[in-house]
Amino acid sequence: MSRIATIEIDGKKYELPIIEGSENELAIDIKKLRGLTGGITTIDPGYKNTGSCESAITFLDGEKGILRYRGYSIEDLAEKANFLEVAFLLIFGELPSVDELEKFHEDIKAQAHVDEDVKKIIDGFPKAAHPMGVLSSLTSALVAFNPASVNVDSEEEMYNAIVRILGKFPVLTAWAYRKQAGFPLEYGDNSLGYVDNFLKMMFKKPAAEYESNQIVVDALNKLLILHADHEQNCSTSTVRIVGSSNAGLFVSLSAGINALWGPLHGGANQAVIEMLEAIKEDGGDTKKYMAKAKDKSDPFRLMGFGHRVYKNFDPRAKIIKVAADEVLEALGVEDPILEIAKGLEKEALEDSYFVDRKLYPNVDFYSGIIYRALGIPTEMFTPMFALGRLPGWIAQWREMRLRKEPIGRPRQVYIGETYRKFISANKR
Ligand code: CMC
Repeated sequence: MSRIATIEIDGKKYELPIIEGSENELAIDIKKLRGLTGGITTIDPGYKNTGSCESAITFLDGEKGILRYRGYSIEDLAEKANFLEVAFLLIFGELPSVDELEKFHEDIKAQAHVDEDVKKIIDGFPKAAHPMGVLSSLTSALVAFNPASVNVDSEEEMYNAIVRILGKFPVLTAWAYRKQAGFPLEYGDNSLGYVDNFLKMMFKKPAAEYESNQIVVDALNKLLILHADHEQNCSTSTVRIVGSSNAGLFVSLSAGINALWGPLHGGANQAVIEMLEAIKEDGGDTKKYMAKAKDKSDPFRLMGFGHRVYKNFDPRAKIIKVAADEVLEALGVEDPILEIAKGLEKEALEDSYFVDRKLYPNVDFYSGIIYRALGIPTEMFTPMFALGRLPGWIAQWREMRLRKEPIGRPRQVYIGETYRKFISANKR
């Protein structure tokens, strides 16, 4: 039986359908609200109560701490799959067969190069440029080197654009780092796996052999999988809304990279390490920083804590915390900030400020500690998040285009001046 919501405005009743998702989520469908009511709209800054789309990609239940990609639990995928399998799953909806995965990887490898002229653009950036800025610029710049727009009615063209960006993006990410590190811009080795090859592109030193380390490859596969999609977050919504104007895939992704950069979103992983370092430098006094986080007159927030949707725990953070211990032990790394992080988490979980507001460690709290142990510099943490999120952004862009969603164009409630007569400059 279809459900109906009734709203009453000034004594007049309006009926609105309620739609139900496959996990029994209910949503009041307000598509016809303005038409029915003669222009009454809804307001929801930050979209805390607003679903922007129907999506079949990622399910998350913030109260129960559940995260699933296309129905598969994040725990299973992080444990058993590799990043490319997960990318295929997110984008095309099913886990690939061995042959499908091989073809997908071959097609990506065939695109794992960028025009030599891109190096001239990289040359123009100052060495101190943040790699996220470099990455978003280069992702936009790719359009100039691949000018044909994608005909979204052609599955083949869509597929080609997808493998093109999956091939080129790791190159650009690695080169953003190499520019900063002062290393020559080199390619990896297509005989390696996707993640291993990326690590080679990052870390191969001139005149030295690169040696793969399976512990590092496995850890990075896991981290990238954990970051691969997270339904309608800030950067994903940005990708969808930019794409909804029929802008191309690469520029929509570039916009998503910029949205991700902010410290309240993907930039938090860098901010967490900087915070933990600052606490260490300050003598390790976690209580002082807890007090700062709770002080409403202090802008300081406990970075890596809290989440718009998770109000119980972030399942990704649980997996990453265990992985941090394992990776540091396997690599023989002792990092004093891991202890500071654990201390801070323990204190926060016992503190009524954090408990009452349901603030738990999020995906970014421990990820930086692993990245550090893998030798990835702090400013590259958010680009690593972008590399992981790439399949999610692509999947969401593809879904939005295939569903032929209308251009994203929210309404507002105007609170400015009402009509005023223009006064010429000499009379003001
Ligand atoms: N430290 C101290 N207080 C906090 C924190 C924090 N990290 N996060 C939220 N609060 C407080 C906030 O001040 C507010 O208190 P009050 O009710 O007294 O005004 C209350 O908790 C609710 O916070 P909010 O800002 O209204 O919640 P939100 O859903 O708008 O924001 C958030 C979510 C993630 C932006 C926020 O928790 C935050 O800024 N966290 C730190 C940054 C961070 O770790 N971001 C990474 C998010 S996970 C990765 C990703 O997917 O992007």
